[in-house]
Amino acid sequence: MGNWKSNKTMEEAKSWIDAYAQHPPKQSPGVTVILVPAYHHLSLFAGISSYAVGVQDLSPFESGAYTGEISAAMVKGMVSYALLGHSERRKHMGETDEMIASKVQRAREAGLRPIVCVSEVAQVQNLKRLMPDFADSGLLLYEPLFAVGSGTPDTPQNAGLTAKEIRNVLPVPVLYGGSVTPENVRGFVETEQLSGVGVGGASLDAGKFRALIEAAASS
Ligand code: PGA
Repeated sequence: MGNWKSNKTMEEAKSWIDAYAQHPPKQSPGVTVILVPAYHHLSLFAGISSYAVGVQDLSPFESGAYTGEISAAMVKGMVSYALLGHSERRKHMGETDEMIASKVQRAREAGLRPIVCVSEVAQVQNLKRLMPDFADSGLLLYEPLFAVGSGTPDTPQNAGLTAKEIRNVLPVPVLYGGSVTPENVRGFVETEQLSGVGVGGASLDAGKFRALIEAAASS
């Protein structure tokens, strides 16, 4: 899963989409590619079927008088996933486990599959307490804080051990994120407890993202 975060003008997004379409990764049946651009890019992805698209956040409320919020109902039909509770949102926007659980609920009501980011097992325990049926449709993205955007990933072994602890609380697919690159991705996707990776910086360049997908698929 590639997360563009707060990056790319419309022109830059169009260039990425064109570059990826011109040189797509080799077909690999077992691999699901998800791209999570910003809201304003979403219409550019209409009709693309070679990868799935998600949003980076959702309003915790249903539609209505919530200025500036994008509700799940607004993006229904445009995306299939909702990335929720990213550590950057927890840190800079003060998101709490309670708010994130409300967002998960909104995502589900709109038929979107929630991917909740966690950096510690306590957050998984809270999610389970707030939303006992999360495992029915949710995924978790484990991102240790030191590894996000730092160029210093966790080791696959450590990530696998934490994913095991997470899965003891909530038995859902767990992805690893934090400084994943085409060079190190294989170690993570080959780790038994991990079901995939979340990628920030390395998803911004279409060629690098393709290389990463091909490296992951070759494992
Ligand atoms: P990064 O970001 O790959 O740039 O470290 C990961 C993430 O925040 O999902």
